[in-house]
Amino acid sequence: MKLIEAKDYKEMSILASRIISEQVRSKKDSVLGLATGGTVLGTYQQLILDHQDNGTDYSEVRTFNLDEYAGLHKDDENSYHTYMKKHFFDSVNVSAANTHLPDGEASDLEKECGDYDRLISESGGIDLQLLGIGQNGHIGFNEPGSSFDSNTHLVKLAQSTREANARYFDRIEDVPKHAVTMGIASIMRSKKILLLASGVQKAAILNDLFHADVSEDIPATVLRNHPNAVIIADREALSKLQ
Ligand code: F6R
Repeated sequence: MKLIEAKDYKEMSILASRIISEQVRSKKDSVLGLATGGTVLGTYQQLILDHQDNGTDYSEVRTFNLDEYAGLHKDDENSYHTYMKKHFFDSVNVSAANTHLPDGEASDLEKECGDYDRLISESGGIDLQLLGIGQNGHIGFNEPGSSFDSNTHLVKLAQSTREANARYFDRIEDVPKHAVTMGIASIMRSKKILLLASGVQKAAILNDLFHADVSEDIPATVLRNHPNAVIIADREALSKLQ
């Protein structure tokens, strides 16, 4: 894993957006794996600015998001479909037909999961996967204990994850209990991985990411086995790194 140190959230976002826009400029039909959450918001803002200022072209780009809540309608204000439209897709020239998120409302969720992995591989596989990290080491919604061999699957969210995400909902009871997520194996098939971490609340897990044993108990440690993983973290997130 390569570590890039950023001063703060803004610098992390700028550095991440440069890597992503460079990917898109060097391969115009790039397949991007995308994430939601607070950490990656600034990166999307920077990519939008870059699109406006430098004309980076997304017309042939295809995107696959990591995850979506189960049981939330696509148009629900808290769905990841809505997040992606609001924070990125509506502001660049990506074609809606080329953007993919798991359908958390599919009647046959198991089939939906298999179809999602198939679609990714039919697209040629993910060139660059963007990731955040949970305080418990989750990537996507692969909570501690997830198998490193997992493909896209239905998961029960950890209580700590529901609490962390409750900030977006009116009440914690409204946070879905399940989600569909790309599995660890699906993520690891990406040609390049870019994980972002910002803030002191990520400092302990960042130290584990680099120094704890590679184990399913801390899903993100699997990235140490990836040949092309880059971590961009700000000073606060690196403040407990030994
Ligand atoms: C989001 C996702 C999650 C987040 C993680 C960090 O699509 O898959 O793994 O990346 O929960 O979330 P934030 O950035 O809100 O701290």
